[in-house]
Amino acid sequence: MAWTRLNLPIARWLRGVLTSVALVAAVSGVIALLEPALPPLSLLVLYLFAVMPVAVGWGARLAALTSLISVCVFAVLFLRTAGSFRIAEARDAVALGVFLVTAAVVAELAARSRRAAVEAERLTMEQSGLRRVATLVAESVESPAVFKAVTREVGLLCGADLARMERYEVDGTVSAVAAWSSGPAQLAVDTRFDLEGLSVARDVRRTGGPVRLDSFAGATGGIADEARALGIRSSIGCPIVVDGKLWGVIAASTKRDAPFAANTEAQIAAFTELVATAIANAEAHTKLNRSRARIVATADETRRRIERDLHDGAQQRLVSLALEVRLIQDGVPGHLPMIRDDLERLSEGLTEVVDELREMARGIHPSILSRGGLGAALRMLARRSAVPVELSIGTASRYSPPVEAAAYYVVSEALTNVAKHADASQAEVTLGEHDGRLRLRVRDDGLGGAEPRRGSGLIGLRDRVEALGGSIDFVSHIGYGTVIEVALPLDRTDQPAANGSP
Ligand SMILES: Nc1ncnc2c1ncn2[C@@H]1O[C@H](COP(=O)(O)OP(=O)(O)OP(=O)(O)O)[C@@H](O)[C@H]1O
Ligand SMILES: [Mg+2]
Repeated sequence: MAWTRLNLPIARWLRGVLTSVALVAAVSGVIALLEPALPPLSLLVLYLFAVMPVAVGWGARLAALTSLISVCVFAVLFLRTAGSFRIAEARDAVALGVFLVTAAVVAELAARSRRAAVEAERLTMEQSGLRRVATLVAESVESPAVFKAVTREVGLLCGADLARMERYEVDGTVSAVAAWSSGPAQLAVDTRFDLEGLSVARDVRRTGGPVRLDSFAGATGGIADEARALGIRSSIGCPIVVDGKLWGVIAASTKRDAPFAANTEAQIAAFTELVATAIANAEAHTKLNRSRARIVATADETRRRIERDLHDGAQQRLVSLALEVRLIQDGVPGHLPMIRDDLERLSEGLTEVVDELREMARGIHPSILSRGGLGAALRMLARRSAVPVELSIGTASRYSPPVEAAAYYVVSEALTNVAKHADASQAEVTLGEHDGRLRLRVRDDGLGGAEPRRGSGLIGLRDRVEALGGSIDFVSHIGYGTVIEVALPLDRTDQPAANGSP
């Protein structure tokens, strides 16, 4: 195995020599055919057809050797005079010399254009790899998918056999987050390694820049053991820096003897920048969602407090005042009917204020939601809706308070909108668990044309739902009613739903 690897360049060189000999023989055959009709020196130039392919395939050195072979063969076959191998005339020697120089120039040009073509192909490959990854980043595709794509692109671009992306952890270890391989043998993923022995990750952390490791022979540590087991000869790694901090490393490894090309680090760097952007985006997205969740939670908490204050404070005071008025009313002598009537009106007024207050408190925060769960709360909303509602509740589970509150406010706002804007004859509300999500659908057969940017209700729903990691979609074509579809995380709690009603 090692022998074969060692002899790969020799085998390639041998193939080049054989090709060169075969081409020179073929051109000599053609010259022999043409020689009777044309002066042989003018046919010397035909050997360029042997020199050029060799220059393109094997480089300028083998092309120079081909020119020499050509000249020798030509001299022996076509310039021999009377059984001697000497070149008879100075004119012939000059022609051979000119051919050699011309062949050298042509060979160099051919080899250069070959190198330019190879570089152009590599650049095209790099550009399309970068474009593919940039598209994923721009589409805010989940980070693991970006990690996987980048690791693959880096592996392909460097001509590596294996590649892996690793993330530095706070405990001083490194986690393998994505791996790629040109063959079946894979580097480990979702695994943690300490940075004790030799590894690209250790050296990148020490230096903060790209590193090359030429051999893992005799090295200690989990990563070095793995490298030896997979037959890795050398590795190269580049840091991934996010917001000025070292986040991780991407390493490419080869099982061949030949080292990675000199500019490999620069090629990898273009990809690590994209990874850093994807990570920074994802982190910003997570932070944004957390802050949205905090805003929604603070608003909910404030509503809950106001509802409790109204219920325990003002409402209770008014109820006891109404009772006191009743008592006073009962104690008024029968010959003072006007005072009794006045007190009666006062008592009724107080009772109405209590009812109004209770209604307001319900709107501020639905206490039925915490007591009876989503089913009870949605039934209450359906009963109170100005437009008839067909309700279908396919779950009796209890969910976390933010999830229940989100589902409740979606239905509440949607039904309010139906009454306010839709001119609908009916609405449907469907709730159930499907594909690992709590799914909610509110549909009406009204005018359609709902446009979140025109108000604050639908935008508020989007904030609330997305802050929980859920999704919300509005479909509202004019004349075809409105559908709101929401998917929320299945954040179940063990508490069973009560069949309470308001
Ligand atoms: N079910 C519906 N049918 C038709 N139009 C709707 C429907 N729901 C919303 N709309 C339209 O979309 C707009 C935005 O709705 P949104 O709930 O965000 O705001 P709003 O109801 O006008 O005000 P608020 O901030 O009080 O909710 C509404 O102004 C209305 O024109
Ligand atoms: Mg609204």
